[in-house]
Order: sequence, then structure tokens, then C-alpha cells
Amino acid sequence: MSADATEAGRGRRVGMVGGGQLARMTQQAAIGLGIELVVLAGSREEPAIDAGAAFEPGSPTVLDDLRRLAARCDVVTFDHEQVEPDYLVALESEGVQLAPPAAAKLHAQDKLHARRALAGHGFPLPDFAEASSIEEFDRFAAVHGWPLVAKAPRGGYDGRGVWMPADREAAGRLLAETPGPFLLEPMLEIELEVAAMVARSANGEYVSYPVVETVQRGAMCREVIAPAPVSSGLADSARAMAVEIAEAIGGVGMMAVEFFVTARGLLVNELALRPHNSGHYSIEGCVTSQFEQHLRAVLGLPLGDTSLTAPSVVTVNVVGGEGPEGPDARLADGLAVPGAHIHLYGKQSRPGRKLGHVTVCGQDAEATANAARAAASALEGGSK
Ligand SMILES: Nc1ncnc2c1ncn2[C@@H]1O[C@H](COP(=O)(O)OP(=O)(O)O)[C@@H](O)[C@H]1O
Ligand SMILES: [Mg+2]
Repeated sequence: MSADATEAGRGRRVGMVGGGQLARMTQQAAIGLGIELVVLAGSREEPAIDAGAAFEPGSPTVLDDLRRLAARCDVVTFDHEQVEPDYLVALESEGVQLAPPAAAKLHAQDKLHARRALAGHGFPLPDFAEASSIEEFDRFAAVHGWPLVAKAPRGGYDGRGVWMPADREAAGRLLAETPGPFLLEPMLEIELEVAAMVARSANGEYVSYPVVETVQRGAMCREVIAPAPVSSGLADSARAMAVEIAEAIGGVGMMAVEFFVTARGLLVNELALRPHNSGHYSIEGCVTSQFEQHLRAVLGLPLGDTSLTAPSVVTVNVVGGEGPEGPDARLADGLAVPGAHIHLYGKQSRPGRKLGHVTVCGQDAEATANAARAAASALEGGSK
């Protein structure tokens, strides 16, 4: 606890590890609430510092840097998963308040750990196995057939760290190039992917958000459609399961659960214990955005209304293409689409990199989606 916060009887200084777009949008929410956000980032160029968050220079892979951030703040939270889990345990043992706690965060940092823990709690999951050798791939393929899905337990995002070896030879190449172990899954017939978000306070208060569809291309989330076009029974059970998971693992702050909808029903894919791409729509599309909600939850403040502000809300990500120019060069084209709420992250354009998103709120699902797609496509240069 910083001295000022103790004297005031309330801590309002939030530390965030990582200065990317999630920290940037959290900073936007922090401004409104008068909360000080201190961000551990590699440079002043990072999106959150660029947006006015206080700068603590350092790396999430250096324990002393994490300690310096913690010393400035009342609670420490995260904009990504790439922090050494042992360091989080060390910080907690030194009295640092982490939100989520280290043990909960591990479920978002290590896919194998998450699978085993969620299986232990009885949640429905894809079949899975750990594999480090071709024999272990063979054994799994003998049951499930090729192609398989192999995932790096740690460090992956946006499809990086997900491979789909078509046959034994491809699995052999993967094993030669990438150190295991891998999380193996069958190649599932996915009807639809949905996500459910929950915010939970340290005192156990929680709220949940409407279930959304996440549309992936190339294993990366490209569109988010709220509400998800699924039966109310399915949406209710995804929402209820997300709450049960947050409670089972002791999550604090925002948590997103990604689900596959298959012939077997809902299967839990992965967890994020932080604001999540599937919740960007909530900035304009819900009474309380996931970024404000995250701040409320990690500080133990009352949680906000999660209702939709319109019958249909669609977010489309803006992804970098081949050219050097980013979407900022085409801002006018995006803004020409009526109703487009544009968020650009201030990141250098690179092929396949998420550089921003567009949200449109409307009455009709198809018209809303088309408007959001038109604006995102205009920002991307119309090439996609
Ligand atoms: N077992 C699977 N079968 C079919 N598609 C899958 C499977 N696992 C993942 N995918 C596809 O790859 C995407 C990314 O996988 P995910 O495990 O969520 O990794 P990431 O951490 O990159 O988001 C999923 O959203 C889904 O579209
Ligand atoms: Mg995912």
C-alpha cells in the first residue's frame, strides 16, 4: 500500500503489467474514474503510455521490475499473460496484492494446467493429452485421427502457438522445430465459437456479460457479435458456466471464457483473466465497459450494469496488411461509415497484427455487422 492511499483509507492506484491496447483502453476508463493507472512497459512508445498512463519502465520477465511497479500501486493487474508464474507467487509472498491472484492467473497462462484443473472441476472440455514425442502424438491420433491440433501450453495468442499437423510427418517436423510439451486436441467440428465474460471482485461479488459470438479467421478473432446468435438456453448455460469457473478458480477482475459450440454442446476452450478482445464491444455496447468493470473489480468498488445498450452490437478487428501504412492513414475512410466507433491502438502496422477495432451499435444484426465490416475494411485499405 502506498502511504497516500493508506492515509486516504482507500487505494486507487492500479498497476498494470504490459502497455498494449488493453492497458490503453483501461487507461481511457481510468481517466473517467480519476484512478491512476501505472503501467510497466518497455518504452514510452507503448500504446498505454502514449495514452497518458503513468510509466514504470521495465519488463514482465524481470522480478525486480515487477517489484518496482508493485511498490507504486495498491493492486497489480495485467494486460497479457506473459509473466513468469513463479514471479507472481514470489510477489504475493512479499505481500503484493495481485488481481487476479497468481493461482487463478495460471489458468490463463498455461493451457495444460487450465485443462487439468477444469477437468477436475467437471467442466466440459475437448478431449486432450500432453505430448512431447511422436509416440504420444501417434497414440492420440490412433483414437482421434489426423489432423490433430497441437498447442503450446504457454506463450501463445492470436493463433500463434496453435498448429494443426495434417499427418505424422507434419507432427514430426513440428516436434523437431518447436520444443514441447504440447497440448493435443482432436480437430473439432466447431459450429460456432462463443465467449462469456464475468467480472468478479475479491469479495466474491460478480456480474456477467451477454454471451457473444467470436468469429475467427486463421485462428485469430476477427469479429465479435453481441448477442451471440444462439438459443437462450445455450447462452444462459455459457454465462452460468463462466461464473462457476470464475468462482472455482478464484478469479478477480475481468475473466473471459472461450467456448466451442459442437455437436457435444458447449466445450470450454481457454480462459483469459483480464479484459479480452471478445469484450471490446462493451465500450459502446454495454452500460459498463469491460475496462471500467475491470478497474471496479480489482479495486473492490461496486460492479456496474452489464446490459447491452442496443439490440445488436458488432465489433470488427482492424488487422495490419502487407503495406507499411497503418489504419491511421485511412481514418477518414473509416469515419465515413455512419455509426462507426473507431479505436486505433497507436501500434506500428505489421501483417496480421491487431491495430484497432470498430464497433457499431444498431437495431438489426445484419445491417450492424455490415456497417462494422465496411468501416474496418476501409481502415485496412479495403484489401480484405
Ligand atoms: N481443437 C480444435 N479444433 C478446431 N479448431 C480449433 C481447435 N483449437 C483451436 N481451434 C481454433 O484456433 C483458434 C485459436 O485457438 P486457441 O486455443 O483459442 O488459441 P489462442 O490462444 O491463440 O487464442 C480457436 O479460436 C479456434 O478457432
Ligand atoms: Mg483463443
